[in-house]
Amino acid sequence: MCITKLLQGDCLELMKKIPDNSIDLIATDPPYRVTSRGNTGNSGGMLKKDIFSKGKVFTYNDIDCIKYAPEFYRILKDETHLYVMTNHKNLAHMINTFLNSKFHFIKSLIWNKGNKIMGHYYMSQFEYILFFRKGKGKKINNCGTSDILSIPNKKTKNLKGENLHDTEKPVELMKILIENSSKENEIILDPFMGIGSTGVACVNTNRNFIGMELDENYFNIAKDRIEKAKTQRNDDIERNKNI
Ligand SMILES: C[S@@+](CC[C@H](N)C(=O)[O-])C[C@H]1O[C@@H](n2cnc3c(N)ncnc32)[C@H](O)[C@@H]1O
Repeated sequence: MCITKLLQGDCLELMKKIPDNSIDLIATDPPYRVTSRGNTGNSGGMLKKDIFSKGKVFTYNDIDCIKYAPEFYRILKDETHLYVMTNHKNLAHMINTFLNSKFHFIKSLIWNKGNKIMGHYYMSQFEYILFFRKGKGKKINNCGTSDILSIPNKKTKNLKGENLHDTEKPVELMKILIENSSKENEIILDPFMGIGSTGVACVNTNRNFIGMELDENYFNIAKDRIEKAKTQRNDDIERNKNI
């Protein structure tokens, strides 16, 4: 049975309470500035002009990776993996910052989202998943996994048909990363969990999860989704016992 710990607040403060060398994997999708044309690389469409003129998709997206990269390094155990999602605009800065924080850059994976976003310079259909390691190299668990992950970009909607989070990542995508870079009962951290896709993937794969989110609304949705995933998993386990 997995343990989940969900914390609402600024992850820069919350991570200070996590001991050194205690986390088995970080898989996260941090906030970053969108392009001048409003392409987030994951919005599934162009954003409203008033939003993208400020470079914002959601309320809290002003955080430079320089602030959290050294903290990621401190709390990860030795010989562990780190996945960080980003767009082309932030790619060079992200890679350089994590290298400066002593991580080794293994490679970039591609999330092929299926849907395409209009733009002047080719339509956008993918997002980068930067794959780093701390310390000595460790193979992934399924070496037969392609570095292009084609998972449809399907968003969870509310009753009005609106996205619960505009940059939600599919649970299936997070599951691939988690299963390849951790074992059951290990501790996975997502400090920018949004509405909790990484947490749901951890519950479904029997990993312990620590999730952090600053926005109260997203935090409450994440809590609810993760609780539902736990109930579903317990029901499935009970049902299988009775077969
Ligand atoms: C790109 S979204 C992550 C979406 C997530 N992958 C999902 O599937 O729902 C980044 C999230 O980080 C949150 N955030 C921004 N600054 C934060 C901070 N300092 N501490 C914790 N969360 C923060 C934002 O509110 C946003 O929900």
